Amino acid sequence: MSKNDMWGGRFSGGPAEIMEKINASIGFDKALYKQDIRGSLAHSDMLAAQGVISVGDRDAIHAGLKEIEKEIEAGTFDFKTELEDIHMNVESRLREKIGDPGARLHTGRSRNDQVITDVRLWLRDALDGIDALMADLQRALLDKAEMYADTLMPGYTHLQSAQPVTFGHHLMAYVEMVARDRGRMADCRKRLNECPLGAAALAGTSFPIDRHQTAAALGFDGPTRNSMDSVGSRDFILEFLAAGSIHAIHLSRLAEEIVMWMSDRFAFISLSDAFTTGSSIMPQKKNPDAAELVRAKPGRLLGAFISVSTMMKGLPMTFCKDMQEDKEPLFDAVESLTLAVAATAGMVDDLKARPDRMQDGLKQGFPTATDLADWLVRVLGLPFRDAHHVTGALVAKAEARQVDLADLTLEEMQAVENRITDDIYSVLTPAASVASRTSFGGTAPVRVREAVKAARADYL
Ligand code: ARG
Repeated sequence: MSKNDMWGGRFSGGPAEIMEKINASIGFDKALYKQDIRGSLAHSDMLAAQGVISVGDRDAIHAGLKEIEKEIEAGTFDFKTELEDIHMNVESRLREKIGDPGARLHTGRSRNDQVITDVRLWLRDALDGIDALMADLQRALLDKAEMYADTLMPGYTHLQSAQPVTFGHHLMAYVEMVARDRGRMADCRKRLNECPLGAAALAGTSFPIDRHQTAAALGFDGPTRNSMDSVGSRDFILEFLAAGSIHAIHLSRLAEEIVMWMSDRFAFISLSDAFTTGSSIMPQKKNPDAAELVRAKPGRLLGAFISVSTMMKGLPMTFCKDMQEDKEPLFDAVESLTLAVAATAGMVDDLKARPDRMQDGLKQGFPTATDLADWLVRVLGLPFRDAHHVTGALVAKAEARQVDLADLTLEEMQAVENRITDDIYSVLTPAASVASRTSFGGTAPVRVREAVKAARADYL
């Protein structure tokens, strides 16, 4: 085994095979090649502007790095495990191509600030991509909410029939969840958008570098303020994984509802062939696999959060090699979340409500019982607790006869409360119930349409 020519000066031997294997990150951190090259372009520009390297060296570095980017993209770049990671693979190839100027690139920086600059750049792009998909999901939900602003369905608590709502109102609940999720992602983006480059190994550098210049060139709001924190912290990754987990949890709830609504007991919606799969043995099947996979994704996001937070816990300042383990969970989390949001938006776009089946659902579970109690309060002046009691007795009667509340005769009602009049039937239909719920944020179709309009203006 030969010693590493990137740092082998004080070494007389090379690493054991297993050492090389556990140490290498090139297998996964090659995903950072674009950001790594971008960072090196900005760093060499700054070194030349500050007179630390010559303009000629800078030009050679730029030309070499651009060629390397093309080699990587063409698949001709030879990634070497013995060069550990993307940073040393690129730098070593640069020296191979341009010689001495390539060897000057690493002046005033370290892999410690380099890697975390790369990851911040990478995650910033990933966040922008995810946010655009989250906006697409909101758009899809809003379109369907508008389309189904009047479509009646049972609303549930404890998954027991509770009160009638509209399908549009139900979908709008998710628009709000996604809005908060996007807010959390935006907070995360803001805090990560500081540039660690130039913190060097941990203490800063004696070269006259300009960290403000590199920060601006890379689109950061400014340089990070403390060199030790710069190379020793990963909370921006944890913050993304926490926000991502919350979003994945929200998506999984909608996914579970899609699975439920697709089942033949509910049959509240249908999905087209584009978002379902068949069974290899049961010819009648149309399975909501995409929804089930979205339902499963929080496992990966939360797993990544646990993984990285456990890795960071108790680490002394500053960089420790442990931190190399941040990347695989992060990359997997981004890929999983990206798939989950895009698939959810696709399913929402695709789904069609089955209002007839939702109506059938409203015939069970006495969803207008609260409207009956409210009528007793409003018209007869009963205290709500007494009204609740009277209504309970009427529900028991209807249940015994296996009919809906609206099917009880006036005599049957009056046997429980003799002041009840015919007018009571006007509040016992789901349509009347929903139309009456006009409080701000309520399910009345007028409110739902207003909410759709406000959300389009505020969120998209
Ligand atoms: N591959 C390392 C990582 O992923 C880069 C930083 C290595 N720095 C060091 N001094 N060994 O974190």
